[in-house]
Amino acid sequence: MKILVIGGGGREHALVWKLRQSPSVIKLWCAPGNGGIAQDAQCIPADTADVVGLRQLAEQLGADLTVVGPEQPLVGGIADEFAAHDLRLVGPNQECAQLEGSKVFAKNFLQRHRIPTPGVHGVFDRAADARLALKSVTWPVVLKADGLCAGKGVLVTSSRDEANAFIRSTLEMREFGDGGGRLLIEEAVAGTELSYIVLTDGTHVAPLVPARDHKRALDGDRGPNTGGMGAYSRGDLVSQQLERQILDVIVSPTIAALATEKLAYRGFLYFGLMLTAEGPQVLEFNCRLGDPETQALVRRMDFDLAEVLSAAVEGRLEPTTMLWKSDASICVVMASAGYPGNFEPGKIISGLPEACGLPRIAVFHSGTRSDANMYYTCSGRVLGVTAAAKNLEDARLSAYKALQSIHFAGAHFRSDIGAGLRAAPMTAERA
Ligand code: GLY
Repeated sequence: MKILVIGGGGREHALVWKLRQSPSVIKLWCAPGNGGIAQDAQCIPADTADVVGLRQLAEQLGADLTVVGPEQPLVGGIADEFAAHDLRLVGPNQECAQLEGSKVFAKNFLQRHRIPTPGVHGVFDRAADARLALKSVTWPVVLKADGLCAGKGVLVTSSRDEANAFIRSTLEMREFGDGGGRLLIEEAVAGTELSYIVLTDGTHVAPLVPARDHKRALDGDRGPNTGGMGAYSRGDLVSQQLERQILDVIVSPTIAALATEKLAYRGFLYFGLMLTAEGPQVLEFNCRLGDPETQALVRRMDFDLAEVLSAAVEGRLEPTTMLWKSDASICVVMASAGYPGNFEPGKIISGLPEACGLPRIAVFHSGTRSDANMYYTCSGRVLGVTAAAKNLEDARLSAYKALQSIHFAGAHFRSDIGAGLRAAPMTAERA
């Protein structure tokens, strides 16, 4: 198989790393990729928003299969474009991708099908109406920009001033462009977040092992939301009973609801869950794999990813072929100074060979470029240092030891990824 991976972050590096291990893969490209991905695949410059250009690229390369990492091309209709030209691609069509592309679409879908999800205070396109609604809410509340906002479109707050500032930046200042043209205000629910991802070929549904993401920038789940500062996965992250409940109450009803609405969903479907005292609730859908979750998950995959993805696009996915190592795995993100705000790129990265030479370690690149001698930072999230071991504590120790070898000016990371969390906790991890 000749496979093209679309995207250029840590998730795509992890996918490339895993696909490269498949005996059936004879060629791997990544568009656009990044400095680190170039170790494992041929990187080709590309604009991930240009779905026609990406289709032309796949045709020109003769790719047998294209795997889409980020949401933007999926929401932009890349699956429809490839289907119209008989090209094989892993990812949902544009209609289905609205589950991520519009928070309002997703919330209406969930409510229409009585799938557990936090209640709504309202949907607003006028700032004055949104501000008025805040006068009668119970705090804290969650404000969500409707469209794609590069991971910055959600605010959880107990502060009216903060909420008003968010309303101003989205609806009035249009800081997120069209993505912020509508605002959903919903109830905040307490509990523990869980990333639960399934792969479906439209008929069969194969759950991946659950993972947990750490979205806040600072230790102790403080600071602003980010794209994810780390993730971990382990065999006992949720009990069998809780996983059964997630499948019965959330996943199966969602798949049935998609069928009822004649939404032919194919690809990865990510359920962003809150495990509350009353049971799991859906906070959000993503129409793709999570990042950094994928960086931790590939370390536990004990199956041929290329074969599984190929089966999925042909409608012959067999969930029992997706076997998982009992190991725990972890990904700790190293980010640029300033992230998730403004940051300065171009910092020299040292110590990568030393870190990568340590046992249990794989370092995925989220935002690097390289020249003949050196790697440089070029994004907010720079590296994902991953480790897999028999238990989470050993994986943590390995990842943090490797991280000590890597240096770039201003590097910051959380020191508590995967720390202090028990199996299936039901108390508030973050509000
Ligand atoms: N880690 C959260 C996401 O991928 O959206």
